[in-house]
Amino acid sequence: MATEKLQIYKCEVCGNLIQVLIPSYGELVCCGQPMRLQEIQHDKSETGEKHSPKIEFKENEKIVTVTSHPMLAEHYIQFIEVYKRDKSEMHLKYLNPGDTAEYNISCIPDEIEAIEFCNIHGLWGENNND
Ligand SMILES: [Fe+2]
Repeated sequence: MATEKLQIYKCEVCGNLIQVLIPSYGELVCCGQPMRLQEIQHDKSETGEKHSPKIEFKENEKIVTVTSHPMLAEHYIQFIEVYKRDKSEMHLKYLNPGDTAEYNISCIPDEIEAIEFCNIHGLWGENNND
């Protein structure tokens, strides 16, 4: 199956996580088996732990936040990424346990989408029901 630009694939054996920059037709393989495409998930419940990133406007700043999620060594948001809707531009911020799960994206144009990756629960996009 052909890959698509900015898709994220994970190796279920070693945990390698990769993103497609230039797509093509070859199958992505790691540790001797096909890598698994990470589907973008969306928060469903209004309470409890949340994963979907939110794009917020604070005074003159534009910030992506993931609130209500742990940032502990065993369970945390590993990165936040934003990209223009037409996928012509992409920006990524790595996070560490103990960090605040936010990314100041004031320098990036308006027509963007945001995703984040949790080390346990995988890939999440914005919740369009907000
Ligand atoms: Fe999580």
